[in-house]
Amino acid sequence: MNFKEQCQEKTAYVESILQKFLPQEEGYQKTVIEAMNYSLTAGGKRLRPLLMLEVYRLYGGSGDEIESFMAALEMIHTYSLVHDDLPAMDNDEYRRGRKTTHIVYGEAMGILAGDGLLNYAFETAAGAFADTADPARLGKALQILSKKAGIYGMIGGQCVDIESEGLSFGQERLDVIYQLKTSALLEAAFMIGAVLAGAPEDQIVLVEEIAKDVGLAFQIQDDILDVTSTTEQLGKPVHSDEKNQKVTYVTLIGIEKAKEAVEQISGRAIEKLASIKGDTEFLSQLLQSLINRQK
Ligand code: IPE
Ligand code: IPE
Ligand code: MG
Ligand code: MG
Ligand code: MG
Repeated sequence: MNFKEQCQEKTAYVESILQKFLPQEEGYQKTVIEAMNYSLTAGGKRLRPLLMLEVYRLYGGSGDEIESFMAALEMIHTYSLVHDDLPAMDNDEYRRGRKTTHIVYGEAMGILAGDGLLNYAFETAAGAFADTADPARLGKALQILSKKAGIYGMIGGQCVDIESEGLSFGQERLDVIYQLKTSALLEAAFMIGAVLAGAPEDQIVLVEEIAKDVGLAFQIQDDILDVTSTTEQLGKPVHSDEKNQKVTYVTLIGIEKAKEAVEQISGRAIEKLASIKGDTEFLSQLLQSLINRQK
């Protein structure tokens, strides 16, 4: 199987796991659950759960408890997108090739669907305690998930991102924004995979470092695509950053230098990955493929 086929197979597997954890669309609160599932099932690359599973396997993990954390992380990531698109934030009307949740269900339901996804993520992850031989590992994984999604992670980054609109500032502040708003959830993916597989502390630190660079490069490429791609290709509006007066790597150093930065930062991550004992071939190819991703 070549890399592309492997990728398709693994993504389909992640998709099947996510399906298992979707909430039932029933009861008086049916509308909010429909809105949650509308955004969750719209597709997306499923990169975070895919990475979590790969890191888990890399460190010898073979149990089921990883599944609820894979689903939980994709729920949190999806909620971050639902809220990111709201009129009060980036005010975008397309996501994952569909109208955004607030356009279809209204703004109030968009906010609540995001809140619902965030809580359901923790409900889902905590479900792993019902059948585990190692509750301490699950506790540590939950702590990582909540920290990386919160004020010291994604939410913190979104706050600085919003407060920075219209301002002029340099790379140092921009890197802080990217490491929080984008790297944090990737760090959660790598770290939880390693923690649940029982990897030693020095390896948790190492995969956190790798993920930080993966996130930085990923967000710079996102900035580039916002300028160079099309809505059809991305499934979300282009020129969103310009509309919202965001400083990005593209406004700061230009497209060509930004592309070089993606390559350099990704190269650093791939090099560190190669220092891990075990079969890192697929992961390495995956990180390589993200450098030139078109969506
Ligand atoms: C979009 O994330 C938000 C950023 C961090 C740039 P993805 O590009 O992973 O979005 P999906 O999940 O594939 O839709
Ligand atoms: C947001 O960055 C990252 C999140 C935490 C949601 P962007 O605002 O650039 O993400 P897109 O381009 O809308 O996906
Ligand atoms: Mg945003
Ligand atoms: Mg946005
Ligand atoms: Mg963007």
